[in-house]
Amino acid sequence: MQTLRRQGRARRVEAGVWVVEGTPGRARRVALVAGGRSDRFELRLASAVELLDSMDEPADLILTDPPYGLGVGSGARHDTGQRVYGRDHARVVAGYADVPTTEYRDFTSSWVAAAASALRPGGHLVVITGPQQAAWVQIAAEDVGLTYVNSLAVGRVFPLYTKRRFAHSHWRVTVMAAGMLYSSARVFNPPSDLPKARSGRDYPLDLWPTGDVGRADAQPGQVRYPNSLPIRFAARLVEAFTRPGESADRPGAEPDLVVDPFVGGGTVALAAWLRGVRFLGGDVNPNALAFTCARVTRRLLDPVALPGPLGTPALGGLSA
Ligand SMILES: C[S@@+](CC[C@H](N)C(=O)[O-])C[C@H]1O[C@@H](n2cnc3c(N)ncnc32)[C@H](O)[C@@H]1O
Repeated sequence: MQTLRRQGRARRVEAGVWVVEGTPGRARRVALVAGGRSDRFELRLASAVELLDSMDEPADLILTDPPYGLGVGSGARHDTGQRVYGRDHARVVAGYADVPTTEYRDFTSSWVAAAASALRPGGHLVVITGPQQAAWVQIAAEDVGLTYVNSLAVGRVFPLYTKRRFAHSHWRVTVMAAGMLYSSARVFNPPSDLPKARSGRDYPLDLWPTGDVGRADAQPGQVRYPNSLPIRFAARLVEAFTRPGESADRPGAEPDLVVDPFVGGGTVALAAWLRGVRFLGGDVNPNALAFTCARVTRRLLDPVALPGPLGTPALGGLSA
């Protein structure tokens, strides 16, 4: 970053926000340098496969929430344009890219293969989906040699209502690892906010009850990104599978690198920043990059909402 700045190749557009490639109006690569931290925190306008194929160091954790491919996208039906969740769409960030339901399987195979190649030995791929799609993720990951670790069920505050079957009331988290399950290269820290066994020992369950991770919805009147996750949900997973810095057995080690190739509204980005690990995110929606910058910098630089970076209208009043 220092070199790019000296060479005039990085342009500061906000406190802490530097455009490394592209223009402030259409940034292709953005770095955040804030809160006295100069370690890697970068966002790129790229498809998931492009981002994962172009990585210059292996990831410790790829934690992501790809588009669901259920034909609902940003809350409007693709076929009729009808609103399905009764939201105020003027307050929802535009440009969310979904994947056609019929292409979901091939789409999943290609980005999961790219993710497997981008992991270090012992690194984790953790994918959040609805229950309908989790099987495709696990099959695609096993097909490219990743090892099954866990499948968590996490209760949603708002079940997806359907008339002719049970309402979908949980997310699935598919956890896969590069290498053997009992490899010492794997990291697993039972999240500190999960209940313990009566003896006081960690006994982290794979079933997180409805409401346990909170909800993502913005307060009335606030701008929100479609299908964003609750921050506690992302934070627990980042804590479980990362090391924030050096330790007795890793003197001088850098914080782990977390990658989210479908960054959306930046919940994983924010969780990574709060944990003190490095982060690389990508999305095909330029508004996702702008929203994520605004969300993270607002949290760290100034408690008062910043004007919108990168030429977007002000994105003030974001919730966590
Ligand atoms: C479910 S959202 C992610 C939400 C995010 N986890 C959050 O909490 O805000 C999925 C994102 O993937 C993006 N997307 C869709 N297709 C993509 C692709 N091929 N490569 C990268 N991003 C893509 C969408 O624009 C959307 O922002």
